[in-house]
Amino acid sequence: MNFHVLTLFPEMIIQGLNTSIMGRSLEMGTITLNAVNIRDYTANKHKKVDDYPYGGGAGMLMQAQPVYDAYLAVKDSIGEKPVRVIYLTPQGKTFCQDMAKELAKEEDLVFLCGHYEGIDERVLEEIVTDYVSIGDYVLTGGELPAMVMMDAVARMVPGVLGNQDSGENESFSNYLLEYPQYSRPEVWNGKKVPEILLSGNHAKVEEWRLEKSLEKTKAVRPELYEKWAEENSEYFVKKAKREERQRKKLLKEKLLR
Ligand code: ADE
Repeated sequence: MNFHVLTLFPEMIIQGLNTSIMGRSLEMGTITLNAVNIRDYTANKHKKVDDYPYGGGAGMLMQAQPVYDAYLAVKDSIGEKPVRVIYLTPQGKTFCQDMAKELAKEEDLVFLCGHYEGIDERVLEEIVTDYVSIGDYVLTGGELPAMVMMDAVARMVPGVLGNQDSGENESFSNYLLEYPQYSRPEVWNGKKVPEILLSGNHAKVEEWRLEKSLEKTKAVRPELYEKWAEENSEYFVKKAKREERQRKKLLKEKLLR
């Protein structure tokens, strides 16, 4: 996966992605990062890249020319094949895990980061293929959203995470939030690790984890819970049967009533 970022702050992108898993993947070459300074492409002799908006209004706009020429330089380096150009904007489609998974299939991705009050519409029309927002709030520029997207996309690229399927097992791959996890010691601050996790009974552990995921998702993200429940109706049938069997067993043993 080759990431190309058109930005006025390339050092922010490079610094932001050079640690931990992203840093290691860059070192290994599983992903590459080409942060292009839009200012290097301005035709203005004072290196200016912004100007006032026609019709008035607050703030300055990034001009079309430097953005377009920076894009052409990147396009040149990629070659003939079409490339997706993602403009980070609160006016875009909201980023999600499915989008990360889909984008991870591309060989190259170009991110366009705006600043000031935005970018001249004409260059956006000319080069942008995807308008993406990372949530309903306004940031000062597109760099942080681009880094968020690159992080989420990179971990869906084969070879970036140590364990091949660990990206698939986590929250949002199946609509559920993650179950709680515990490590040593067995007792910390008077709190004990749930007994079931020490039992060695793998099936029981999996059952408990799914129950915890469902509890958490239902409480925090009911709309995700509903989606999961719709697609997994057989789970509730099986659960009801299991509980009925247990009830009958207890009745038989005269422990109930
Ligand atoms: N630029 C400013 N705010 C943004 C957001 N929420 N998502 C994407 N790009 C942005």
